[in-house]
Amino acid sequence: MRRHRSSKIAGLGRYVPRRVVTNAELERLVDTTDEWITVRTGIKERRVAAPEEATSDMAVEAAQEALEQAGVDPAELDLVLVGTASPDMIFPATACLVQERLGAKRAGAADVSAACSSFVYGLALAHAQVVAGLAERVLVVGADTLSRITNWKDRSTCVLFGDSAGAAVVVPSDGQRGILSFWLGADGGGGPLLTLPAGGSRLPASYETVERGQHYIHMNGREVFKFASRIIPRAIEEVCERAGVSVAEVDLFVPHQANVRIIQSAAERLGQPMEKFYVNVQRYGNTSSASVPVALYEAVAEGRVRDGDLVALVAFGGGLTWASCLLRWG
Ligand code: ACO
Repeated sequence: MRRHRSSKIAGLGRYVPRRVVTNAELERLVDTTDEWITVRTGIKERRVAAPEEATSDMAVEAAQEALEQAGVDPAELDLVLVGTASPDMIFPATACLVQERLGAKRAGAADVSAACSSFVYGLALAHAQVVAGLAERVLVVGADTLSRITNWKDRSTCVLFGDSAGAAVVVPSDGQRGILSFWLGADGGGGPLLTLPAGGSRLPASYETVERGQHYIHMNGREVFKFASRIIPRAIEEVCERAGVSVAEVDLFVPHQANVRIIQSAAERLGQPMEKFYVNVQRYGNTSSASVPVALYEAVAEGRVRDGDLVALVAFGGGLTWASCLLRWG
């Protein structure tokens, strides 16, 4: 029987900055408590990049580990995609900085911008390139330094975020193992719920925009929470249906790590036990584009994913956007 060409993840990498910021430390910065943060979000601590570290630095670290794990030389890469909401600068793309630092001379490079869903969006683009025969080896990175665009005086956002990077090398597979289905979605009408208003062509950076704090993340947490609780179970159901499997057959769910209550609500709605959901939000907070690849990396490293397991990745974020992926590990 002729098997169709698909794609699979051949290697994973991750980088987390050394500096740990605990809830106790935030208690000294804003009017909050360890108890409030723990009960409302599940977060106990997060990592914050060193002053000299930018998104591309973390992306390169994660990428090098993923390439090594995959046994792929950077010079063999056809494409470098970096999913990020906090690029080093507006342009050149962070992916170009990563391409240069890795020595991926043959590769095209571009950023993917879908806020916290960026990595899974990037994975879908990589998969499509490989399946179409346009690329043989694609590096997909999710990296964010949200600490740089967070208002550290705003208790409703600064307790939530952290910095890190995760990476995957995508190569062809024969369809027995690897990526089975995707669902990418967006609701632009919900855009105002989560924005960084200034610094683009609509509202160029000025003294006034800085004075008004418009270079920071602005979020309607309650509405984003409702959206996430609704879309995560829906995105998991859809990606399973597209692959012709039932939700109960999935061995491990790897959701975007924004808030443990969102994950618990998804588990309840799907009628699946929490043990099937990988959670590391307590250690890293919400690391945006890096969240899903870092969680997948750690799940694999901890032996939570075995050869042949069905794994569902699901992300949501500003845009509003969402993206889910079902894959058979191996
Ligand atoms: N410490 C203490 N009190 C706080 C804090 C804090 N850090 N932050 C907010 N509060 C207060 C609020 O002021 C409010 O007080 P009030 O009732 O007197 O007005 C009260 O706590 C409750 O606030 P809510 O916003 O209703 O709290 P909620 O239970 O919704 O939790 C949270 C807030 C954690 C932000 C939640 O809504 C959430 O997780 N939302 C989703 C956020 C998210 O996932 N964003 C990322 C999207 S991905 C991306 O693209 C980056």
